[in-house]
Amino acid sequence: MSLRLFILGLAASFGLAWLFVVIVPFVKMRNLEPITLSKETDGAVGIFYPKRSGRIVNGAKVYAENGCYLCHTQVVRPTYAGNDMFRADWAGLAKDPERGDTRRETNAYDFEGETFAQIGSSRMGPDLSNLARRLEAAAAAKGGGDPATLLYAHLYDPRRSPEARKATCPSYRFLFTRHEIKGQPSSQALPFGGDATTELLPDSDAKALVSYLLAMKKDQPVPAALNFAPAEAKAAAR
Ligand code: HEC
Repeated sequence: MSLRLFILGLAASFGLAWLFVVIVPFVKMRNLEPITLSKETDGAVGIFYPKRSGRIVNGAKVYAENGCYLCHTQVVRPTYAGNDMFRADWAGLAKDPERGDTRRETNAYDFEGETFAQIGSSRMGPDLSNLARRLEAAAAAKGGGDPATLLYAHLYDPRRSPEARKATCPSYRFLFTRHEIKGQPSSQALPFGGDATTELLPDSDAKALVSYLLAMKKDQPVPAALNFAPAEAKAAAR
């Protein structure tokens, strides 16, 4: 092999990967234009603006600092690239009590408001794109519990229930503080982890993280312009 061929081969192996993994996505996503809704296909007018609420910026920082992205993804892949759409309640709820089937793939607009899209680096634990929806459904199934309490309990001790004894999600106990009860118990004390003389309180990092996690509802309907196919399907149905 000549040196010239070797250098060319080297440039192609690194250059092409760099082009398709870094440059093409960067150019496609750097400036997301607002998408105008169309009355015809979306049944609404105005601009598509994905809803996110909660302490997203602080919570995203705590999420990053604690390496949640190492084991949890935030991407529902398109069906040609994986079976995420069919995993139980990953992509939205298949049977939402009010809206019916809300499942859909992730798009770049879902990360609106975040400085860094934490799509995740491996999938050891479940995808968290629609975690808040799953928690709401779980809380409703238990007779109207509080999704935030479920999350605090998970972060404090992922192995608390007999079914989860072998769970591998790390415990984040250092995000909580145990206080001695002096006089009146605190109104912010968690309903678990306390005893006769002490109570458990979430720190500000735990609150921000839970607020961020409770905003994980990436199932808002997207305009047909983003959804690639449905516009034609609707047109054909008329
Ligand atoms: C070492 C890998 C790992 C890390 C790091 C990790 N998790 Fe997990 N997580 C898991 C696994 C695996 C599960 C599935 C249940 C189990 O086995 O614990 C899980 C389950 C969960 C669940 C329940 C999901 C559901 O759908 O019910 C939540 C919520 C969660 N993790 C949040 C977090 C947060 C927040 C962080 C960062 C502070 C984090 N995890 C860091 C591995 C991890």
